[in-house]
Amino acid sequence: MSAALDIRDFERVVFFTGAGMSAESGVPTYRGKGGIWKSYDYQNCACQEAFERDPEYVWEFHNYRRGLVSKCAPNLGHQLITRCQQQLPSVRVVTQNIDGLHQAAGSVDVLELHGSLWRVHCEACGWSEEDHAAPVLALRCPACGDAYKRPGIVWFGDPLNEAVIREVADALAACDLLVSIGTSAVVYPAAQMPLIAKRGGATLVEINPEDTPISHAYDHHLRTTATEGLAALCAGLDP
Ligand code: APR
Repeated sequence: MSAALDIRDFERVVFFTGAGMSAESGVPTYRGKGGIWKSYDYQNCACQEAFERDPEYVWEFHNYRRGLVSKCAPNLGHQLITRCQQQLPSVRVVTQNIDGLHQAAGSVDVLELHGSLWRVHCEACGWSEEDHAAPVLALRCPACGDAYKRPGIVWFGDPLNEAVIREVADALAACDLLVSIGTSAVVYPAAQMPLIAKRGGATLVEINPEDTPISHAYDHHLRTTATEGLAALCAGLDP
């Protein structure tokens, strides 16, 4: 990393985070060592077809994840991003994560590309709520009483929420610093979104111990963990 790189030198910052952001909180990533998709087949637990075929199994998987994440706390990296939001003029957080740890650390206006583990809704009648219970025991919609509640997650094959995409694209096009943290950049369309910032002339920083398929697009690479990379980038902030 360039020793001169200091987050305070930028006016409009976007943090773009993936599962590696929460790895140091104890939340498993999806791919790589200990990755969720090594133990679970998404075709049985994280797609609409699976939900329609066997909603109880899909809920078993999501309840397992809710239980796991509910034991995890935001790490120093989440806290530093919140501190950036509090001290710098314009900081947006765009995440692929569904764990809610940015919000738990106090970050605001978090744009969740892949939904949230803590939101549930009913596809039959439109009922929805935020529910932090781990696990969800009553699986049927309390409003219509019939259909299964659906986890508020963008599963494989689902379209992303258009309003969220628009807001993310606007934030990326307007930023002068994009910091991507802990994403393997293999799931589309999220994977290529940082390139919007590049086209807008922003400086791009990648924090990830490993190379990714779009590493070449980044100006700076911090081949370290989320907490260490953010600590270096944010060293000049007030404590
Ligand atoms: N700090 C920073 N990065 C880390 C750390 C860490 N401590 N530990 C692991 N990583 C990096 C890995 O090198 C990898 O590049 O985090 C990345 C995690 O990749 P994935 O597990 O593929 O997570 P992500 O990119 O967020 O996945 C995208 O895939 O299944 C879907 O919907 C799910 O949102 C998810 C999407």
